[in-house]
Amino acid sequence: MNLFDVYDINNITITRAKGSYLWDDAGQQYLDMYGGHAVISIGHTHPHFVSRITHQLNLVAFYSNSVNIPLQKELAAKLGKVSEKENYQLFLCNSGAEANENALKLASFHNGRKKIVAFKKSFHGRTSLAVAITDNPAIQAPVNQTDNVVFLPFNSEQALEDYFAEHGKETAAVIIEGIQGVGGINVASHSFLQQIRALCTKYNTVFIADSVQCGYGRTGKFFSHDHADVHADIYSMAKGMGNGFPVAGILISPEFKSRHGMLGTTFGGNHLACAAALAVLEVIEGEKLMENATATGDFLMGELNKVEGLQNVRGKGLMIGFDVAGELKDLRKNLLFNQQVFTGEAKPNVIRLLPSLALRKKEAGEFMESLTDEINHLTSSSNLVSQA
Ligand SMILES: Cc1ncc(COP(=O)(O)O)c(C=O)c1O
Repeated sequence: MNLFDVYDINNITITRAKGSYLWDDAGQQYLDMYGGHAVISIGHTHPHFVSRITHQLNLVAFYSNSVNIPLQKELAAKLGKVSEKENYQLFLCNSGAEANENALKLASFHNGRKKIVAFKKSFHGRTSLAVAITDNPAIQAPVNQTDNVVFLPFNSEQALEDYFAEHGKETAAVIIEGIQGVGGINVASHSFLQQIRALCTKYNTVFIADSVQCGYGRTGKFFSHDHADVHADIYSMAKGMGNGFPVAGILISPEFKSRHGMLGTTFGGNHLACAAALAVLEVIEGEKLMENATATGDFLMGELNKVEGLQNVRGKGLMIGFDVAGELKDLRKNLLFNQQVFTGEAKPNVIRLLPSLALRKKEAGEFMESLTDEINHLTSSSNLVSQA
């Protein structure tokens, strides 16, 4: 049987990983500045993560949500403490798209409305409603298309104000990434997030903070929306939550009342997923990884800003993006194949850095050396071409 071919893949086979490094089947080492798409939060194969999952696997891996699973309560308590949202409620699921589906469904149950506000360049997932609120018609099938979603310009306070004046009373939810990831590392301004909070409160609309990529400590605060000092009604989380183990969830404000059957899942909150998620939070807390993300991120941003040829360096903590000029269009590919460094991208010309929150300053320095080497190489070869 063939695999259904839906990805552009690099011809590299990873067989081992540790901390911020990966090794392929030929023993070649790579520096991971991509974190497998922002998923690796505490570093690859962290010993505490491995031992907590192994221990749990030997006890019980899965049983359904029809019985008590004390690990879920333990996870909720730990998550409440580390995220400083102790009065919120937790619903567990398996992926970012699923978290957003549940968030939107809950919002609509809560106020009985259908319209959703999302923003230009947003990405919220690939399932039915999640892809409908993603600003990319190329990945929406006809069945996903709906009149219930409007895309407003990102960071435009006037457009939001005008929209709410006319449609606020019919709007179920506003969903926003605190920093757009797939869209190219676009940071929501504090005043825009504060305005969303104020309008949602005024119109009884639900404020959903998609924290799938920008959350879980990556920006130096637990949720990137925290930098603006606002509380959303629902936070969606996935990626870094399990350091590679598939686990996701939504944090729900205390104002939401549950009823049986409203939300549900087979795999969500299983024993193994809870053990993985608990291990991640224990390491984030114990090793002060949010503080590390701030310090190492500041160092990287400072160094990147000194490099000629990189434009518009932006982001927060260890969620960083920069634009590369035309002559550096092969930079990302060359970093991988000449310098053995994984990075992320956003079309058309953005390099995204999404490393583990445990990235050391020494490793960030190593990345900067590879980056400047490769830029020098690319600019000297393009100078040679123009002189020829
Ligand atoms: C902001 C954001 N939301 C949702 C998702 C979807 O997550 P998943 O791929 O786990 O469904 C992603 C994935 O990249 C994302 O970046």
